[in-house]
Amino acid sequence: MKRIYLDYNATTPLNPEVLESMLPWLRESFGNPSSAHASGRCAAAAVDRSRVQVAELIDANADEIIFTSGATEANNTIIAHADGKIVAGGGEHSSVYEPALATGAVFLPLTRNGQLLQDALKKALEQHSPALVSLILANNETGVITNLDGVAKIVHDAGALLHLDAVQAVGKIPVNVQELNADFLSLSAHKIYGPKGVGALFVRRGIKLTPLIRGGGQEGNRRSGTHNVPAIVGMGVACTIARRKIDQYKEHCSALLEHLENQILKKIPDVTINGANEPRVSNTLNVSFTGLDAGLIATRLDMAGIEVSVGSACSSGRNSSSRVLEAMGLSRHESLGAIRFSLGWDNDAAMIDETVSKLAEIVETLRHADQAANVIKF
Ligand SMILES: Cc1ncc(COP(=O)(O)O)c(C=O)c1O
Repeated sequence: MKRIYLDYNATTPLNPEVLESMLPWLRESFGNPSSAHASGRCAAAAVDRSRVQVAELIDANADEIIFTSGATEANNTIIAHADGKIVAGGGEHSSVYEPALATGAVFLPLTRNGQLLQDALKKALEQHSPALVSLILANNETGVITNLDGVAKIVHDAGALLHLDAVQAVGKIPVNVQELNADFLSLSAHKIYGPKGVGALFVRRGIKLTPLIRGGGQEGNRRSGTHNVPAIVGMGVACTIARRKIDQYKEHCSALLEHLENQILKKIPDVTINGANEPRVSNTLNVSFTGLDAGLIATRLDMAGIEVSVGSACSSGRNSSSRVLEAMGLSRHESLGAIRFSLGWDNDAAMIDETVSKLAEIVETLRHADQAANVIKF
């Protein structure tokens, strides 16, 4: 049985071109970029080439890119850097939410459709005079794209810096740090067909970052630790491909996603599309199957060879309802029934048809079982 993977927001496979680019750095070219000799200089040049490729994806300067072990580290670095109160969005990934919570951050409410409430942001800026505002650009659970029109100005006028978590946005929508006027921005390679365990942090020129990880002074003393050269090289190539294929990706995923959404609405009663009516990235659909346990649906789908996610990947398995969906005002009941479908390059229409047909069967079986149980109870 060929499995159907619909969980590309959790991670993506390595693009073969990315893998090819990494191999020499895993084999013969093993130098440490911090070494002064030829092998070291060769590795340092590879890291710097990759830095340019990452910068190009978001229209930054190469010296504004710091390589990290992933977006979790990039996000934690910025939260730790903030010298004062933090205001964060209501739908932040746990790698912003958890460290921000520990500092006593203020979290903004979301609309029912998962959008930022700009009035709430203005109020929080007035009340708390924060040093940092941290917002997710595209939500990993719902795909909702945060409306940032005018946000940087509001934040800067209030004397705060703006951090954006762009992990689920790059490669899907244009991300331009000049237009966004962000001060910090986090990226991860494994969401864009690059390797796991590598990411990048954009820090606007002129801002002196307080490093989270200290030691050898790598990355201009902003992030210590020996460079993971193969992964960094792979990230650079993944960024170049993501940039080149952004329109093709959107075309491919949006047609499939629309088909998935239409088929679900047509074939399965009592479902809610979470984040409906808001602009969403082209690959993500979050659906509540009212009254059902999403964990049970996902397990049955998995048994049928179809892989989806319940809430975010990081919280699945904990059987807790989604913090993001609850911030949108969904009841615990609705949130517990939510499944995330996230599509990618390897999906096709036949996979979507197969998924909806299995899903309809599973939902019907579970609802019948519930009804039967209720009849027995009374
Ligand atoms: C929005 C968002 N931010 C941050 C992260 C963390 O990225 P990484 O896996 O590189 O640590 C993820 C990964 O799930 C994510 O979706």
